[in-house]
Amino acid sequence: MKTHTLLMPLDMHLHLRDSVMLENVAPLTAYSFSGAIIMPNLVPPVTTLEDVRNYKKSIMETVPNDYFEPYMTLFYKNYDKAFLESVANEITAIKLYPAGITTNSEGGVSSFDIEEMRPTLQAMSDMEIPLCVHGETDGFVMDREAEFMTIYELLATNFPKLKIIMEHITTKEAVEMLDKHENLYATITVHHLLLTLDDVVGGMMMPHNFCKPIAKRPEDLNALLTTALEAHPKVMFGSDSAPHPRSKKESCGCAAGVFSAPIALQLLCEIFEQYDKLDNLQSFISDNAQSIYGICPEFKEVVLEKRPFIIPEDYSGVVPLYAGNEIAWAIESIE
Ligand code: NCD
Ligand code: ZN
Repeated sequence: MKTHTLLMPLDMHLHLRDSVMLENVAPLTAYSFSGAIIMPNLVPPVTTLEDVRNYKKSIMETVPNDYFEPYMTLFYKNYDKAFLESVANEITAIKLYPAGITTNSEGGVSSFDIEEMRPTLQAMSDMEIPLCVHGETDGFVMDREAEFMTIYELLATNFPKLKIIMEHITTKEAVEMLDKHENLYATITVHHLLLTLDDVVGGMMMPHNFCKPIAKRPEDLNALLTTALEAHPKVMFGSDSAPHPRSKKESCGCAAGVFSAPIALQLLCEIFEQYDKLDNLQSFISDNAQSIYGICPEFKEVVLEKRPFIIPEDYSGVVPLYAGNEIAWAIESIE
């Protein structure tokens, strides 16, 4: 049987939530990933050293038997330098949300006034703390990411030494930015390598495919696939796995977020094999992230096997991407 081995898989954009949801979802990621960048959009968001420590402790308590490193982040505010110095050793990045643009982002940035942000961003640059960005404006939903490119340019040119990560990119415009600015990087989800807007609202409305940023056009999907499959050195896997209870998804006012954590590696194997690029998956799933973030995860070896696997209908009440569908790869063993 055909197998494929991945070493130290990393998920560079992950929502773990807190309390019961955390207990349900964190073990699923800790099982097959060596580490993950943990998003800070809790209610209330992670904004203090105490929040970071408490959140990390709760995560570690849910995964006692697996080796798993939660790389912690803070929710961006215009923090001062002294505060940043006090947290720098305990965080891996800071995540910036435009206010109100996605789930639990109400306390985000409401205007991109560079001079107001300069002291924080310059201090982050000096301290080598990467800035992760949810890059969407409040424009028309299909244009929000493309419109945000001017803000990425502003950030990239004003802070040329700051590592800026364009999170969960969905457009060809974002892909093109990678080669325009040395300090711009990106994460790509697995669902954005599979879906277009048609899979969300083209037929029956599919709430479990609905996320922010929304899946775009076929030409955007192709641009994302090309850059992921070649494992562009500035691109990393970040699932943006964003669990919501079934009742919040299958409802009027469906919450944004696709839950993919437990099946991401299997789906990535299927996609990379389909395009005969399995050899590039290691870079996309771990090596690029290790060099971009300068992190060294502990050893973990995941062996995947090419055999039919039916994605469960739900994981403790959370419906995953492609629930109930058969895919071509399964996890065989983990060491
Ligand atoms: C995320 C969530 O639910 O926290 N939702 C999503 O659609 N991706 C937030 C985010 O990353 O935008
Ligand atoms: Zn996210």
